[in-house]
Amino acid sequence: MKVLVIGSGAREHAIVKALGADPEVDAVIVAPGNPGMDAIALCEALPGGVLDGEGIVELARRHTVDLVVIGPEAPLVAGVADVVRDAGLLAFGPSAEAAQLEGSKSFAKDVMAAADVPTAMARVCTTLEEVADALDALGAPHVVKDDGLAAGKGVVVTNDRAEALAHAEACLAKDGGVVVVEEFLDGPEVSLFCLCDGSTVVPLAPAQDFKRVFDEDQGPNTGGMGAYSPLDWAPGSLVDELVTRVAQPTVDEMARRGTPFAGVLYIGVAVTSRGPRVIEFNARFGDPETQVVLARLQTPLGGLLKAAASGDLDGVGALHWSDQHAVTVVVASHNYPGTPRTGDPIAGIEEASEVPTTYVLHAGTARGDDGTLVSAGGRVLSVVALGESLAQARERVYEAVDHIELEGSHHRTDIALAAEREELHVG
Ligand code: AMP
Ligand code: GLY
Repeated sequence: MKVLVIGSGAREHAIVKALGADPEVDAVIVAPGNPGMDAIALCEALPGGVLDGEGIVELARRHTVDLVVIGPEAPLVAGVADVVRDAGLLAFGPSAEAAQLEGSKSFAKDVMAAADVPTAMARVCTTLEEVADALDALGAPHVVKDDGLAAGKGVVVTNDRAEALAHAEACLAKDGGVVVVEEFLDGPEVSLFCLCDGSTVVPLAPAQDFKRVFDEDQGPNTGGMGAYSPLDWAPGSLVDELVTRVAQPTVDEMARRGTPFAGVLYIGVAVTSRGPRVIEFNARFGDPETQVVLARLQTPLGGLLKAAASGDLDGVGALHWSDQHAVTVVVASHNYPGTPRTGDPIAGIEEASEVPTTYVLHAGTARGDDGTLVSAGGRVLSVVALGESLAQARERVYEAVDHIELEGSHHRTDIALAAEREELHVG
C-alpha cells in the first residue's frame, strides 16, 4: 500500500513514522512535510497549500497512492476529504459536514444534546449582553469559547469577569462571530482518539495533554505542550464508558443526520466526580497526544486507517499496545503562543536521539539557505521517550530535551509529573 499524508507537524511526523513501520505500507509520501519527515518519507511540495484539494488529488494520482491521510483540521473543515473522495480516491478524514463537530462548537453542542452525550452546560451567544447574562447564570470560573477554529487558542478560562467579556468581545468582532459560554468542568482531562468509519468505533489508548504554556498550568492555552500515555490513574472502565456514552451515540447521531463521521473522533473530556463530561470534539488526531499514542500502538497503523476510510473497521479485531509508558515534551520557539520568533538555528537533535528509546519529531522546522536546521513555527520539536515506568520515560525525555539547543526556546518541565507522583484524582 502507498499512502499520502497531508500536513507538516509533529503529529504528521508521528503518523509517517508509524506508517513506515507497517509491513503492508510500501511507500509514504508526505506533503508538505518537514525536514524531519524528509529522512523517512518522500516530501512533496504543495504549491496550493493544504486547503488545495485539487492539488492533493493531483499529487495522489501522480504517486498512485491507495490512501490519503489528512492530518490537520483546516483542510478537513474546508472539505478536502470530500474532494479526494469525489475523485474516486480513498481518504482518511471526515467530510466537511462531519468535521463541523470540530469546526463549530455550537454545532458540536447541538449533536451532543441530540445524542444525550454528557457535556458542560452551555449557552451560545451572538451579543455581549447575552454573554454577560450567560456569565452570571453559569458563574465563575468563566469559560468563554470562540465558536470557530482557533488553533487551540480560542478558549479563555478565567475568574476575571472583565477578561471573560474582553475575550468574548474579540470573538464577536469577527465576521459572523459566535461565542459559547460554558459551565466550568473540574477534573483531570483525558484525550481519547476513536477511529470511526461512519458506524463502527475503535478507541485507541487514552492520553493526557498539557494545554497551558507554563508549568503548573499557568499562562495562556497553546496547541499542546506535552502529553503522556497510558493513564494509570484513570478508572479502568473509562475507555468503554467514553465509547458507549460519547463516541458511539455521536457517530450514530451523525449517521442519522445523513452526515456520517469517518476519521478520528477526538474526544476531550474532564473526568469529574459526576463522571466524564465532554469538553470538546476534534475531527482529527490531536497534537501532541498522537506522538505518545502511536509510540505505544503495535497494531500496524496503515491497515487501521485504510479500514476506517473504507468502512471496514468492524473487521479489525482487538488492537495491540506496548506496556511501556510514553512521554512527549514540546520544545517551543521564543514568544510562543504569541507570534513566535523563527529562523533560529537548532542543534543537539542527534545527541538527544542517543538517549535510549528516545526520538525527536519535527514540527516547525525548516532548512536555512546553507542547509542548517532552523525554527519555522511556534511548536518546533516534539521529543518522545518510552520507559518501563512513567518516571523512567520522564527521565529520558528530559535528558534528551536538555541536549536541544534553540535560542530563546522554552518547554514545560512538569509534563506527566503529577501522574508520576500519583497526585491525580478524579474530579
Ligand atoms: P477546547 O479548545 O474546547 O479544548 O478548550 C481548550 C482548553 O480549555 C481545554 O483543554 C480545557 O483545559 C479548557 N476548557 C475548555 N472548556 C472547559 C470547561 N468547560 N471547563 C474547564 N476547562 C475548560
Ligand atoms: N492537543 C490538542 C489538540 O490537538 O487540539
